[in-house]
Amino acid sequence: MKKLQYIYENGSHKWAIVARDVERPQYLIDTNEYLVINDDRALLTDPGGIEIFPAVFSAINEHFDASAIDMIFSSHQDPDIISSLSLWLEVNRQLKCNISWLWSGFVPHFGGDKNTFIDLPDEGAEIRLQGLKLQAIPAHYLHSSGNFHLYDPVAKILFSGDIGAALSGSEELPIFVSDFDRHIQFAKKFHQRWLGSNEAKQNWCQRIAAMDIDMLCPQHGSIYTGDDVERFINWLAELPVGVM
Ligand SMILES: [Fe+2]
Ligand SMILES: [Fe+2]
Repeated sequence: MKKLQYIYENGSHKWAIVARDVERPQYLIDTNEYLVINDDRALLTDPGGIEIFPAVFSAINEHFDASAIDMIFSSHQDPDIISSLSLWLEVNRQLKCNISWLWSGFVPHFGGDKNTFIDLPDEGAEIRLQGLKLQAIPAHYLHSSGNFHLYDPVAKILFSGDIGAALSGSEELPIFVSDFDRHIQFAKKFHQRWLGSNEAKQNWCQRIAAMDIDMLCPQHGSIYTGDDVERFINWLAELPVGVM
């Protein structure tokens, strides 16, 4: 079972993480889903794969009517990101999926039709959730060629997809990074192998370092908070990527 935990609450504006499915088959990579709520609207980031859909759905539905989720933000096209799309469309036929224009002909193989997808242009876009103006931030080639992160300028939260991801094998990672130096060992191999472009990485580090971020929330592993956000950006800037 997965659990939902609120990580930001300000009136009717909330962020929650759905994470740590200890009962999942060990051959599946563990994932974090984030639910962004504003008033009666909700957006789900990288809803995950078919296998974990029941665990994600029931964890959310314990706290929030999952059929009220009307937006998906898909950072890229991977199966651990978006292969559950057709199941979410059964929950809400009106659901819209925001994804890079690059993938809008590929991801419909997982489900949906021309009415489902909102193509994100390369330069990014604003995604509105009632009055809340979320921003799709370009992160191309990190690791997907059409890749976006999602910034909430009010909560100062950056959902960073696979950037910041950590893989720990059988060890269960905490929701928040508590010991950066220890944690980052679990992130090193992932970034070296899954990111292919040092140039794209440096551009991302410069762009993100200039932003006001309290929490950097990856799709795998633990959330970076406070000074660990800057520590992570500096660590990534120094790390050679695209190596075996
Ligand atoms: Fe990925
Ligand atoms: Fe991933």
